[in-house]
Amino acid sequence: MQRTKILVIGSLNVDLVIQGPRLPEEGETIMATSFRRYFGGKGANQAVAAARQGADTIMAGRVGADNFGEEQVASLAAEGIDTTYVLMDDEHSSGVAFILVGARGNNRIMVVAGANGAVGPTDIEALVPVMAACSCVLIQLEIPLDAALAAIRLANAQGAKVILDPAPAQSLPLSAYPHITVITPNAHEAQVLTGVPVHDLASAKEAAQILLDRGALAVVITLGSQGVYGLTLAGEFHYPAFEVNAVDTVAAGDTFAGVLAAQIGAGRSLKDAAEYANAAAALAVTRHGAQSSIPTRGEVLQFLGQ
Ligand code: ATP
Ligand code: RIB
Repeated sequence: MQRTKILVIGSLNVDLVIQGPRLPEEGETIMATSFRRYFGGKGANQAVAAARQGADTIMAGRVGADNFGEEQVASLAAEGIDTTYVLMDDEHSSGVAFILVGARGNNRIMVVAGANGAVGPTDIEALVPVMAACSCVLIQLEIPLDAALAAIRLANAQGAKVILDPAPAQSLPLSAYPHITVITPNAHEAQVLTGVPVHDLASAKEAAQILLDRGALAVVITLGSQGVYGLTLAGEFHYPAFEVNAVDTVAAGDTFAGVLAAQIGAGRSLKDAAEYANAAAALAVTRHGAQSSIPTRGEVLQFLGQ
């Protein structure tokens, strides 16, 4: 039987977003222009990005047994996402992200993990039968590292393609890399993983080669307004960013990763999937919020047709 489902294992947050004329310096107070609440969390954002492309998507993670948790699950279900494996945690509150956004769409984020921090290897082991039915398993690092590492290893053992978005940045044990099909760091994460400061195509190539040498099958580094750089054993590619009016880059990386997974799950080549996901992520930066900014398949196709 053909495996078409996408399983996303990761975090769910409620985002409390304050936008202002610029980001404050340390110790400085400035007046903001707006406050809004959005559904976010790297895992949930990536699940929404995949589902809005039409992928049959399953979300696994934890929320608190509180209003935020109930609202998040209802919102994912309304997107057509299977939430069977989003556990309600009685001991921890739902994850919350405090996000400051400056006028150019740049941001600073602090996250209270809450229930996301209680995702453990036992939760992941329970997902093995689901992994066996999925084409891709998409994982981030906003859950405890031991859980993320178990997910990487078990998903690979079940024959699923493992896409790791190593965000927020932290280093990984070398033993993880041979289980990874595609790793999608941004420039900062690539530097944390490899020690190479990534600021242009040459440095992206240097960092990507290190990750490939460690055993990942493919590396796609997102470079913000410089687009996307990819390296596999078959060669390299670069897609410059689309020129858009960036108002809020929150979830640009999540949009890229979720759409990439949906495209790969649908059988597209990595190169084509990255080109398409680059367009979806460009659209996301033109809109405010996390899940509220993620485009549908129709919107990406229309954008590419323009
Ligand atoms: P996030 O802000 O969600 O944490 P990130 O740091 O993980 O994002 P970036 O590399 O900044 O990831 O952006 C991801 C992708 O979004 C880029 O590769 C590109 O496709 C798109 N993107 C980001 N910024 C811009 C921009 N200013 N113009 C066009 N596309 C952009
Ligand atoms: O990647 C963006 C996400 O990071 C936000 O939605 C916020 O919840 C933080 O986890």
